[in-house]
Amino acid sequence: MTPMKNISKRFAGLAIDFRNNPFFRARLKLTAVYSAGVLALLVVFSLAIYSFFAKNITSNLEYDGQDQEESQNIELQVIQRAKDQLLAVLLTVDGLVIFLVAGMSYSLAGKTLRPIEASYKKQKKFMADAAHELRTPLAVMKTGAEALLMGRASEKEYEKFTRDFLEEINSLSALVNDLLFLVRGDSLKKIEFEKIDIGLIAKKQVELMRKYAKNKQVNLENEVNESFYIQGNKSDVKRLLANLIKNAIDYNRPDGKAVVSLSVEKNQVALKIADSGTGIAEKDLSHVFDRFYKVDAARTKTAGGSGLGLAIVKEIVNSHGGKIGIKSELGKGTEITIFFPSVFS
Ligand SMILES: Nc1ncnc2c1ncn2[C@@H]1O[C@H](COP(=O)(O)OP(=O)(O)O)[C@@H](O)[C@H]1O
Ligand SMILES: [Mg+2]
Repeated sequence: MTPMKNISKRFAGLAIDFRNNPFFRARLKLTAVYSAGVLALLVVFSLAIYSFFAKNITSNLEYDGQDQEESQNIELQVIQRAKDQLLAVLLTVDGLVIFLVAGMSYSLAGKTLRPIEASYKKQKKFMADAAHELRTPLAVMKTGAEALLMGRASEKEYEKFTRDFLEEINSLSALVNDLLFLVRGDSLKKIEFEKIDIGLIAKKQVELMRKYAKNKQVNLENEVNESFYIQGNKSDVKRLLANLIKNAIDYNRPDGKAVVSLSVEKNQVALKIADSGTGIAEKDLSHVFDRFYKVDAARTKTAGGSGLGLAIVKEIVNSHGGKIGIKSELGKGTEITIFFPSVFS
């Protein structure tokens, strides 16, 4: 490509950016505002300097009697030349400063806007993914209802459809709850913390999920019998446990095992959920905590949810000042450990 074409392509790109990208427009606006501010200061300073020196040059003049008119003329010319030179120097310096300031403002504005742009893009992607997730169960229900209306369904078929509807509605409710939870986290609202016994919460959560595990033919074991205190939010910690235990059951095999245990390691309470399930491949391990990430869409459709469970876990761990450790082997199982700062009773 010729340099001319290259340049015109670049300008065309900038024009598209200007139309479609509000951040590019904001960047240019900031650059213009900074530059205009500096320009105003420069004009004031330059005028002050010019009038001060111009006056000085004039008052330095002395006349010495003879050939007064001629020497006065020469002197006036010298004065004018000095003034012109001063003006030229001032204009050059001003131009240079404005050029530098504009460049610096443009780069600074870009740096300032970058994190805002990133979070804006993240929110946009979140909305798109959420809409996509909501669409699937809605489509299933729509097709079902249309089929019911079209043919003469038997009472048994009606019952089956109603059950399917209920299942879809339940998964929609769960999804909406998860979305609301994540939105709450994004709004940086303060969460209420208190001293809680995570041992007791874990024990209760395991009991609550026993039936779910039994339906999926997974042996859910509880190795927690003591109290362990952390500074936390009770309903968040319950939610974290529910999500992790559900995964350990969902991604398991018939007659597999899921074990919940707690211990203290280096002033930290370590909550461990281990399973003998499918495991997670190395390449997926760093992504499973991303919003809407599902390792295997086909498998997840029968087992899990919308890919928000671990994103919520990560959010809760972060807000509690904790850390997550994950070990997994394909076909063998997964072990997730959450470390909370410990509070001794
Ligand atoms: N204990 C586990 N064993 C195997 N795979 C898991 C486990 N926990 C999570 N995963 C994988 O990580 C993905 C993300 O998990 P999660 O955020 O809970 O979403 P989902 O709604 O799909 O359960 C899941 O789709 C699943 O493939
Ligand atoms: Mg899950």
